[in-house]
Amino acid sequence: MTDAKKTVTFTDNQTGKTWEYPVLSGSVGPDVVDIRKFYADTGMFTYDPGYTSTGSCSSAITYIDGDAGVLLHRGYHISDLATKCKFPEVAYLLLRGELPNETELKDFEKTLTYHTMVHEQLHKFYDGFRRDAHPMAIMCGAVGALSAFYHDSLDIHDPTQRMIAQHRLVAKMPTIAAWAFKYSQGQPFMYPRNNLTYAENFLHMMFSTPCEDYVVSPVLARAMDRILILHADHEQNASTSTVRLAGSSGANPFACIAAGIASLWGPAHGGANEAVLKMLNEIGTPDRVDEFVNKAKDKNDPFRLMGFGHRVYKNYDPRAKIMAETCKEVLAELGIENDPLLEIALRLEKYALEDDYFIEKKLYPNVDFYSGIIFKAMGIPVSMFTCLFALARTVGWISQWKEMIEDPDQKIGRPRQLFTGSDHRDFVPMDKR
Ligand code: SDX
Repeated sequence: MTDAKKTVTFTDNQTGKTWEYPVLSGSVGPDVVDIRKFYADTGMFTYDPGYTSTGSCSSAITYIDGDAGVLLHRGYHISDLATKCKFPEVAYLLLRGELPNETELKDFEKTLTYHTMVHEQLHKFYDGFRRDAHPMAIMCGAVGALSAFYHDSLDIHDPTQRMIAQHRLVAKMPTIAAWAFKYSQGQPFMYPRNNLTYAENFLHMMFSTPCEDYVVSPVLARAMDRILILHADHEQNASTSTVRLAGSSGANPFACIAAGIASLWGPAHGGANEAVLKMLNEIGTPDRVDEFVNKAKDKNDPFRLMGFGHRVYKNYDPRAKIMAETCKEVLAELGIENDPLLEIALRLEKYALEDDYFIEKKLYPNVDFYSGIIFKAMGIPVSMFTCLFALARTVGWISQWKEMIEDPDQKIGRPRQLFTGSDHRDFVPMDKR
């Protein structure tokens, strides 16, 4: 962040009072007006529900140019990272700030491998759930419970403990997610295998059984690895902001990630991939696409096209482009020709690129639009889609948490409000109510 060169002035046009605030510049992207003293100076709050115009922090991890449809992680284009790296490389980049060399990557992968098992007692935790519990409910519970098992990595002021917690969370999420799936299937949990890569291990724990070996398809493992990269981090989105706010109070990292999982679950956010599949199934056939597009345009109809639109991207989500390519590769690998859901999706996408409503509101497919079709083709049940998103985003969440904890300017997050309720009222005793 560069020192203020510019300033902006606010004027109260009733009193004529003016206040001047510094404009801070980052390395790239919009400047910010530093209004930290605004309330002390003016006695007023700024008002920005949904934080559409608010920078909550300074960060060096991920940069998004929504108009250009650009996504950078530590300066590297997502298209390069998704096509030239494997997930642990990108995880290292997000956590440490640099792409690892061969030795660093090997050491990092070994560290993750030897943290993939979870405490054996955690098995019992799953037994408390009904078999039809939503896997995201299980993940919220299981991840929050990790803080009860790993007391040696809870001191957020100890850099070594912080690093162990980061490694444990990234390494254990595939195990926790896969076990949520196995529990829902009534199948035995499969332990991670140390000779498999991160993505291979997840597919192994999802689809292996004790009865026979499961040979992980290299194409599906590559597709999974790429999908994990595409979901790894995304600036100050709702779930990342949740993790930062939870962490700002000094809560332990496991509890903060559990909070992030809870926020991601919503259909307007990470739950959209599950909602997209439900929507495509509800549309049912390509010839009903027009009917649903008209519903989405109807101001009186709350229906929205899941997988379309984005708070920041007012252009094609660069992740969706790569996801679309991966979708075609996976369907071809699996010999799935003319997938009806894909046909409906392509018809919807055509609308987004040609219809005035979509063009005027800049509604493009987002990262969630194609992921569900790929997951379904890979045999992953709809209820697990958001778990995969949470699994991948954990490294982004914990990288942002680490950056916040290590920020000397960090303080507890405590927004204010525009109060619209009753002013002071005299108490009314029961017999007078
Ligand atoms: C993710 O923030 C991130 O980075 C998130 C994410 C990440 O990696 O962390 O990218 C992951 O969450 C992707 C988004 C997944 N969600 C969906 O696909 C759900 C459907 N999309 C919408 O709910 C919506 O587009 C949001 C929530 C994504 C963004 O909403 P905004 O920015 O608050 O925009 P808005 O609701 O104010 O909509 C602007 C206009 C509105 O019309 P007007 O009131 O101006 O007339 O566009 C319309 C909306 O009605 N609109 C849609 C629409 N999304 C917005 N109309 C139809 N279908 C849609 N999907």
